[in-house]
Amino acid sequence: MKSSGMKNLEEHFQLCTRGSESESDEDCCMKDEQYNITSAIPETCQELKECIIKRMPRKLHQQKNHPINLIKERIVSYFYKKFVGRTGNPVFSVYDNLDPIVTTHQNFDALLVPRNHVSRQKSDSYYLNSKYMLRAHTTAHQSDLISSGLDNFLIIGDVYRRDTVDSTHYPIFHQCDAVRLQTQHELFPEEWDLKVFEKRPDKRTDDKQAEHTVDAVRILSYQLKTTLQDLAKTLFGPDVEYRWVEAYFPFTHPSWELEIKHKGEWLELLGCGIMEHAIVAKAGAGDRIGWAFGLGLERVAMRVYDIPDIRLFWSTDRAFLQQFAVDDPFTAVKYKPVSVYPICVNDISFWIPPHGDFSQNDFFDIVRTVGGDMIEEVSLVDQFVHPKKRLTSHCYRITYRHMERTLTKTEVNAVHNEIGRRATEVLGVSVRMT
Ligand code: DAH
Repeated sequence: MKSSGMKNLEEHFQLCTRGSESESDEDCCMKDEQYNITSAIPETCQELKECIIKRMPRKLHQQKNHPINLIKERIVSYFYKKFVGRTGNPVFSVYDNLDPIVTTHQNFDALLVPRNHVSRQKSDSYYLNSKYMLRAHTTAHQSDLISSGLDNFLIIGDVYRRDTVDSTHYPIFHQCDAVRLQTQHELFPEEWDLKVFEKRPDKRTDDKQAEHTVDAVRILSYQLKTTLQDLAKTLFGPDVEYRWVEAYFPFTHPSWELEIKHKGEWLELLGCGIMEHAIVAKAGAGDRIGWAFGLGLERVAMRVYDIPDIRLFWSTDRAFLQQFAVDDPFTAVKYKPVSVYPICVNDISFWIPPHGDFSQNDFFDIVRTVGGDMIEEVSLVDQFVHPKKRLTSHCYRITYRHMERTLTKTEVNAVHNEIGRRATEVLGVSVRMT
């Protein structure tokens, strides 16, 4: 199923490289002032294809024996076994091939994300134009799948976000979302005499939405929490320590996050909650109440397999991939570093343009785009305001390290200089000589 009535990615690029033959409003190729798929370089679609988008067709979650695929298989297998129909058939269906180009409506509006929500900022997401973007979460497909008549489904796919650069963040990562909708009849046996919906919408409280009864929310959140606790045990082992934390998402109420203890520290594993009734009703399932959750696959895979750096998932090195060549996704594998190559650290300092809207994510984006997987981390190590000039200076420390070879000083310098040049050109900063 397509996520929108639009062209797929290949067609998108054919169109773009051919020029603008079909300039309709529907066209994802029509750039406008919202376009920012890496502000760092691509002025043409051809260049665009060569950076972020060249990784889009790799679909790590569909690549057999890839660690992201193995985690996906573990989750799918858990849901297939846990929820079965009359004849033992799985009730959940899996959508792992939906187009990552979605409308801003699918990504935000259909999910009641407020107009001024931070996630809508240009510095946080990748926009093709003001109407189309690369999905920032797999939640973007929930409402369409409900509209198409589904009640129980998993959505798995690549998602795109502009973020910090370090060992756990990468502009493309993978998520799994799930939705389970139930009717009055499915939730409460006749004789219990309990209702899912209030006769007339009641007050919305911290514990529930106006339309739902206290009983329905209680039983549904119990189902949701036990399902997810068991999922955490399936992924991390029966002894995993977990805790529930109250949370906020525009598309669920009440909402929670599940945290697990990993190596002595609490780690947020997933977000979930009771779906906003307005979303469910608008998608044509107003007679149902639902729960939903979303989790990041890299975050799970890094812990389950002891993978120390998120860039490794993009490695095509056999020495990496072969470690995951197992038939059963539940096989215990611990990643053994093939070899660790030395780091090379270079600082860059610049004055930020006085009247611009400089965002750190724009700079991170440039670093990742120019340096690719040579970049291990970027951190702001110093900032100050010049008392007379009234200009702000930022100094970033860039750690270079390749996962598969030793970098030479010359190649690191070339990339470092190029980062400075691009930042000057695109962001209007002035690089300071140190
Ligand atoms: N989309 C959220 C995120 O990316 C995660 C999430 C939270 C998904 C709650 C859900 C949900 O479906 O119900 O952070």
